[in-house]
Amino acid sequence: MNCFELHKDIDHVLITEEELDEANTRLAALIDQAQQGRDGQLVLLGVLKGSLVFLADLIRKLRTPIELDFVKASSYGASTVSTGQLKISLDYDRKEAENVDIIIIEDIIDSGNTLPKLVKHLKEKGFRSVRTCTLLDKPTRRMVDFQADYVGIVVPDEFVVGYGLDYDEKYRELPYIGVLKEEVYK
Ligand code: PRP
Repeated sequence: MNCFELHKDIDHVLITEEELDEANTRLAALIDQAQQGRDGQLVLLGVLKGSLVFLADLIRKLRTPIELDFVKASSYGASTVSTGQLKISLDYDRKEAENVDIIIIEDIIDSGNTLPKLVKHLKEKGFRSVRTCTLLDKPTRRMVDFQADYVGIVVPDEFVVGYGLDYDEKYRELPYIGVLKEEVYK
């Protein structure tokens, strides 16, 4: 199977490459604007693995100098619905926490179980600020009241893959966000 054969599992394209590019441009401008006049260091912290493609495109649109790092965190539980417990398998630490602004970069917020716990965990390390930026937001699935500081595109409750997002570790390399055919995961 090659990458092009993955397209046959996609019911329809939900967000095109052009729309993703527009969302990235808008988010980068918002982040740049918020950092204006602030001293210290901005760290963009990607949550592996889903955020990787988004993060790679986003940082190339920023004017603010950044440091780039990663965490790996997920909620325990079933494959398509996350549950309560946060598991951090790659943590982020930095000698100097003062004067450091963190923006956690996510591909999607679904139930909202993962991100608020990660924010709390990082705040406890003493960083000056911890904000969140997500490419996609699926508010209809929310189990926890949480709103990201920066949101790219609000999506309906459909099974989305591509542009970093996977199903069973597949489809991350698709250049668009597509809706997976039901027969693939049911
Ligand atoms: C996805 C996504 C978020 C989380 C969102 O990660 O990247 O981290 O789920 O879901 P929630 O709002 O319901 O907590 P996943 O655990 O699938 O790992 P991945 O990034 O490696 O695909």
